Amino acid sequence: MTEYTVEFVGTGEEIQVSEKETVLSACIEAGIAQEYSCRVGMCLACSAEIVEGDVTQPAARGLTDEEAENYALTCMARPQSDLVLDRGKYPPSIEDDAAAGAAAADDD
Ligand code: FES
Repeated sequence: MTEYTVEFVGTGEEIQVSEKETVLSACIEAGIAQEYSCRVGMCLACSAEIVEGDVTQPAARGLTDEEAENYALTCMARPQSDLVLDRGKYPPSIEDDAAAGAAAADDD
């Protein structure tokens, strides 16, 4: 079984993750405070930007194919290489939704 090194931007945290294990599962085991909620690839709470490396995440239904090239849903993503991830980063479509919601709230 192959293990890869997963490093998190800005935290100095680094863990070993098996190719068969999700990044989120390894974070929980290591005591790393990775956010999550649904754990089934839908809510995007566990999103991270892929700075370096590749993952497989066919069940990450909350991401478009294009988004899945640059973002990992850590509850679904299994490493295919060593990784550098920036936790708490969301696809632009989510950031746009949040901005639209804030703008709508300002109109009240
Ligand atoms: S925890 Fe909901 S998508 Fe990962």
